[in-house]
Amino acid sequence: MIKIYAPASIGNVGVGFDILGAAIEPINGDLLGDCVTIQLSENFELLNKGIFSNQLPVNNKQNIVWKCWYKFCRVINKNIPVSIVLEKNLPIGSGLGSSACSIVATLVAINEIFDNPLNKKELLSLMGEIEGEISGSIHYDNVAPSYLGGIQLILEDDDVISQQIPHFKTWFWIVAWPGIKLSTAEARKILPKKYTQDICIKNSRCLASFIHASYSQQSDLAAKCMKEFIAEPYRSKLLPDFLKNKEQIKKLGAISCGISGSGPTIFAISENIENAQKISLWLTKNYLQNKTGFVHICYIDTKGVRKIG
Ligand code: HSE
Repeated sequence: MIKIYAPASIGNVGVGFDILGAAIEPINGDLLGDCVTIQLSENFELLNKGIFSNQLPVNNKQNIVWKCWYKFCRVINKNIPVSIVLEKNLPIGSGLGSSACSIVATLVAINEIFDNPLNKKELLSLMGEIEGEISGSIHYDNVAPSYLGGIQLILEDDDVISQQIPHFKTWFWIVAWPGIKLSTAEARKILPKKYTQDICIKNSRCLASFIHASYSQQSDLAAKCMKEFIAEPYRSKLLPDFLKNKEQIKKLGAISCGISGSGPTIFAISENIENAQKISLWLTKNYLQNKTGFVHICYIDTKGVRKIG
């Protein structure tokens, strides 16, 4: 029996739409991600557990886990039945890479129990393909960090899909999920198909500056460059009072604040724990819409997917 954990992630990282993704882990040691336990069996079986399992489809054939197993068997051209327990610890449609967590944990678990027929690149490519079927188009900015850890820059080249870039070890990442759902497919549909030259230049400048600042370890510059012109201006209206909240969070000392993935989770960055705690408290009081919502102060998770238990 094998148990695999895949961490939550912040897609886009506030500056690189579909191009940057960061894996995160709460500083208090909580698991913020999905777990998959697998063993070989007579027939395919799936049991859903975890606090958010009530959000999963009743028909298991609509579950991402089944899709992963079905696709994997087709790729290797063998039908090997397995019994899987999915621990759904992340809310669906949260902007924390919930579907990516299930995909990454499941595919890594299946690959492992089948004696690793797929290499890392083949596995990541399959992860992106399945993520694309769920969210409307292929994007690796959640599956890549959840699989490989750290902040991943999506290269999408024939030979290499993604590589890690340096991150700031002094940064605390505060994530707040308000307790409501936002479908990634819907949040992608509302984006323009074309952008003006001016927007393309501003966006390239910010992304290039962020990458440069990350490599030269200029924390202030990196935080200042975290501006997003492709999605945030269109999606901000889908989140509860996003612009007002962002302003307030910055007043509390955040050096950056943005939408995590397609939202409604927002993230903020602080360089010291006192401000991180202040921001976390403020978000708990003002951003959460119901009792299921949560706030976590996180580090970058450098390990990515892993065996646990
Ligand atoms: N890059 C994707 C998007 C991430 O913003 O649509 C989804 O979590």
